[in-house]
Amino acid sequence: MEDVVSEVIKRALGESRIFKNREALSSDYVPDRLPHREEYIKKIAELLSPVLRVEKPSNIFIYGLTGTGKTAVVKYVIKRFVEHAEKVGIDVFKFSYVNCRNEDTNYRVLFKIGSDVGVRIPFTGLSVAELHNRLREYVDSKRIVVTIVLDEVDFLVKKVGDDLLYRLTRVNDELRRSKVSIVGITNDVKFVETLDPRVKSSLGEVEIVFPPYDALQLADILRERAALAFRDGVLEDGVVGYCASVAAREHGDARRALDLLRFAGEIAERDNASRVTVEHARKAREELELNAAMEVVRTLPYHSKLVLLSLAIGGGFAESTGSLYLVYRRVCEALGLEPLTQRRVSDLVSELDMLGILTSKVVSRGRYGKTREVALGVDSAAILKVLSSDTRIGEYVKLLKNGRNR
Ligand SMILES: Nc1ncnc2c1ncn2[C@@H]1O[C@H](COP(=O)(O)OP(=O)(O)OP(=O)(O)O)[C@@H](O)[C@H]1O
Ligand SMILES: [Mg+2]
Repeated sequence: MEDVVSEVIKRALGESRIFKNREALSSDYVPDRLPHREEYIKKIAELLSPVLRVEKPSNIFIYGLTGTGKTAVVKYVIKRFVEHAEKVGIDVFKFSYVNCRNEDTNYRVLFKIGSDVGVRIPFTGLSVAELHNRLREYVDSKRIVVTIVLDEVDFLVKKVGDDLLYRLTRVNDELRRSKVSIVGITNDVKFVETLDPRVKSSLGEVEIVFPPYDALQLADILRERAALAFRDGVLEDGVVGYCASVAAREHGDARRALDLLRFAGEIAERDNASRVTVEHARKAREELELNAAMEVVRTLPYHSKLVLLSLAIGGGFAESTGSLYLVYRRVCEALGLEPLTQRRVSDLVSELDMLGILTSKVVSRGRYGKTREVALGVDSAAILKVLSSDTRIGEYVKLLKNGRNR
């Protein structure tokens, strides 16, 4: 008994046989080295270097797919500039890092900028215009360069429009002593096209595109992070390569590669293993994929859920959309719902196919003509479990199970 408890205590205290610093694999962690991004670090540092002479850098617009290191690179450069300023004791530039997914109103963005540059402003109560004025006056009361990083800026613009963005890019016209520059970051390439041309041209004085990583680059990144995160010798050869190749196949997303590696470690821990093996990484991949698929299922429209339910009840396979439709009709009847037409259900099957939750293929049955076979792409039991979070479907699934057990 004693041993069991001390084991629990050890774990709760974070003493792990596997990890020495789990944090090093989390996505907010800014490592001291960013392999394969030296060129971008240098470029961005050079572009921002005018702040050291109290001059305004060009506005920069950075885009690239998710997990290509945009946030990590920019945070890294800022960190180094701030460290330099502290070391030599200069106070002529400020950085404000705003994540627009979290700060998604104009007020919140300005509030965050205010607190980063050191203006005291109330949480609420001011109008955005007033807030803007106070901020401007404060900044102009010194002689400084403020660089505002608007990360995931598409979130802000999609939610409240590009008004603030426009004002921020124009604020220098109203400043006499200080300067403001903007770094915009997004992973939504289409967003760039939707921007007002005036905003686009001033925000994108310099544009930088981050390319995806390939498998070898991802492996280098993982190896460095793994050395920080795992205890010596616990990582079996091949785990890093496996995680890197899985993530590279998807589009070179370093976050996904790191998540996979961390999760593999957690599974090893859960299994009380002394090493992290490729098998753990495989399991991690399966579980992550299943979770992602389940997230999609959870947010489907009701009748799409019913189509999945009908398929899952039939063991995850239907030999034609016609036979699937019959089950679907019975399900609707049992739930007291009006069924959609067979044609519509057939469309839903195609949509679910595109989402990767099921696969359908046309097969020829000789003189019976062609039919479309449908098969679930994920485990039936998992689907039933997720669908059961809807009370009515849950009741129905329970009834079916009891019926079968009897
Ligand atoms: N070259 C690299 N070396 C080490 N770690 C990296 C590197 N590139 C990315 N990472 C890590 O991968 C994860 C994702 O990177 P980051 O958050 O910078 O992606 P992003 O391009 O900002 O993605 P998103 O568009 O989704 O915000 C982070 O944990 C980051 O530290
Ligand atoms: Mg980012």
